[in-house]
Amino acid sequence: MSVEIIILAAGQGTRMYSDMPKVLHELAGKPLLAYAIEAAKGVNEATIHVVYGHGGEQVQEQVNDMGLHWVLQAEQKGTAHAVLQALPAVADDAIVLVSYGDVPLIEPQTLRALANTANEHRLALLTAELANPTGYGRVIRDSNGRITKIVEEKDASEQELTVKEVNTGFLAVPSAKLKSWLMGVDNKNAQAEYYLTDVIAIAVREGFEIVTCKSASDWAVLGVNSKAELAQLERLYQKQQAQALMQQGVTLRDPTRFDLRGTLKAGRDVVVDINVVFEGNVVLGDGVKVGPNNVIRNSSVGAGTVIQPNCVIEESLIGRSCRIGPFARLRPGPQIADRVQIGNFVEIKKSDIDEGSKINHLAYVGDTTVGKNVNIGAGTITCNYDGANKHRTVIGDNVFIGSDTQLVAPVTIGAGATIGAGSTITKDAPAGQLTLSRVQQKTRGGWKRPVKKPRREP
Ligand code: UD1
Ligand code: CA
Repeated sequence: MSVEIIILAAGQGTRMYSDMPKVLHELAGKPLLAYAIEAAKGVNEATIHVVYGHGGEQVQEQVNDMGLHWVLQAEQKGTAHAVLQALPAVADDAIVLVSYGDVPLIEPQTLRALANTANEHRLALLTAELANPTGYGRVIRDSNGRITKIVEEKDASEQELTVKEVNTGFLAVPSAKLKSWLMGVDNKNAQAEYYLTDVIAIAVREGFEIVTCKSASDWAVLGVNSKAELAQLERLYQKQQAQALMQQGVTLRDPTRFDLRGTLKAGRDVVVDINVVFEGNVVLGDGVKVGPNNVIRNSSVGAGTVIQPNCVIEESLIGRSCRIGPFARLRPGPQIADRVQIGNFVEIKKSDIDEGSKINHLAYVGDTTVGKNVNIGAGTITCNYDGANKHRTVIGDNVFIGSDTQLVAPVTIGAGATIGAGSTITKDAPAGQLTLSRVQQKTRGGWKRPVKKPRREP
């Protein structure tokens, strides 16, 4: 039988206390809903329906996936009502697998097992034993251990609340059956909602076979209903990523203070200190050392390079054996060759810096081509913006730029040139020569420093 997955993602997420739809809140830098969709795609050939509602277009825009069938649930009247909105588009002879936009860590193999367990005569329900079942629907069984119903926490008796077996929400069931059962669901409960969970009691009454399945790990079925639960899942997820990287040989000084929001490819003997955030796609070559408090986004770092503490590095290609930081800021676009040094409070933007060059202190280098073995002195600024347009600065090999120089672009400094400290360079400087622009130093004899006037007595 073909499988069609319905992902419920229309709820507002009242318990998040947020203007943003719940399923757009991010786990490791990605919306919760994106995880549910990814897992669903792990079920071969399944059609995926996403029920959206609260936050409407915002959800569709952010997730922006062409392969999905979007179903609007204009008013959120409960999970049964949500599934009903999708069912007209589902084939009558399919197995429907209900999934959730707020359960991000669900694994595709669990979804596959659930779908494979269900058939025309059998419903498969994913349950879990949780030490703390608070907030979940409870699975109620009779004295023979046969399932009788699911009761929501808000409707449960004292006795029922002690049950630790919870409904994860995931279930697989023949489409036609689900349709008929959903017609019989009402909203006479504590939340005045149409509960999908009520179909279990209806199926039991009909004598339909119900099989419960378990996920390989309990964490995988946890839902996000509050900011606290979101933070809990984030840490869980980060710990898993940290474990996987350590397994591959990466040294993490403290895996509990590690954040990866994307993918990290690391060579051998990479060391990552505490409080480093990796975002997007990051590649670290062999022997790279990343000091504490760094943010590295969509960048690649060559073998043997050391990133000292407190740098922000975005969309940069960094060569081998470089030294970056501390407190360096690489804005999108730098291409940095081997053995380059970028030091304290240096900002680099869209610049190519060739081998062995040094920009060690307090500089801004933007829209610039820097040759080999160039030394850019402290406080040097490339004035790349005239208020309307950006212009390039070109600095040849072996140039020495004295401290506190402004290079007013467009401007070219020829190879081997020296620029005297404190210069404002507005015209091209010839190769191999000293160029400087300075008012001559004078000493005025007899000059006195002003002194404070004595205050008049009142
Ligand atoms: C639901 C289950 C509960 C289970 C828990 C597991 C019901 C009634 N309860 O409770 O038994 O233990 O999940 O995580 O099903 N949604 C819609 N439209 C609606 C209402 C909800 O699309 O009208 C979506 C939400 O966006 C969310 C999902 O359905 O992704 C679950 O809704 P939520 O309100 O979070 O249900 P829980 O209280 O967690
Ligand atoms: Ca939930």
